[in-house]
Amino acid sequence: MDNVDNRPPFFFGTNLKMHQTPAETVAFLDDLFSEVGEVARAQRIFVIPPFTSLPAAAEHPAHKRIWIGAQNMHWAEDGAFTGEIAPGMLAALGLDLVLLGHAERRAQAGETNEVINRKVHAALRHGLRVLLCVGETAAERSFGVGEETVVHQLKIALHGVPAEKAERVMIAYEPVWSIGEGSAPATPNEVRLVTRLLRRRLRLIFQRDVAAPVLYGGSVNVQNAASFAALPDLDGLFVGRSAWSPAGFAMVLKEAIRARIGGVSGKLP
Ligand code: PGA
Repeated sequence: MDNVDNRPPFFFGTNLKMHQTPAETVAFLDDLFSEVGEVARAQRIFVIPPFTSLPAAAEHPAHKRIWIGAQNMHWAEDGAFTGEIAPGMLAALGLDLVLLGHAERRAQAGETNEVINRKVHAALRHGLRVLLCVGETAAERSFGVGEETVVHQLKIALHGVPAEKAERVMIAYEPVWSIGEGSAPATPNEVRLVTRLLRRRLRLIFQRDVAAPVLYGGSVNVQNAASFAALPDLDGLFVGRSAWSPAGFAMVLKEAIRARIGGVSGKLP
């Protein structure tokens, strides 16, 4: 859905990580919808709750305007994979997207680029959009291979994906050193450079311009959201801690949209 001024929607969402019971997610979506329901007509808002909250979130009235996604999935159709969730199980809930390759999955669950590639294919096969996270660690950055790392992750994750599916993949640049408590965000200039790099590489991978949105995530908050949202090449923001309350979500979104569209009346939360 486009804005009144025909700009593409701004992508804005949160990953709730391992927080909230189903009842808490319902309460979160109740309040979030009253805060940002109008904005969600024109902008692309999404929430990624934990697995156990997904059925309730998928059936929540807010889901008619807010995309709901899962934080992970297995690549196989089914089988002896204790504790895992198959792509068809997520698709059966009517979910919009699945988050793949988050830094915490890579670091804590040992997810490799090859595993993420299998998951990307499985998700797309089941009609799920993919929110693919890429980002270098502090060590990779200090060795000067941040860009190489991000390109390496992108190329393997998207290997074999046909160009006509590319617009169903959103890329979130999330440098590992910028995520979570005690971290500092990337600077808007760093984000601008990596966003451009990702776009160039997407064009090379798919051999044409593709409409895969590029987002930034990592310590985004109410103070810095506008500086990222003002970057013309960036399509959205992926927010953790600052968006874990409906009021926080709405405030950060409001700053982003203000910077993005200069406060078109009726569009602000
Ligand atoms: P943060 O999390 O905004 O709390 O740094 C970002 C993320 O993990 O995607």
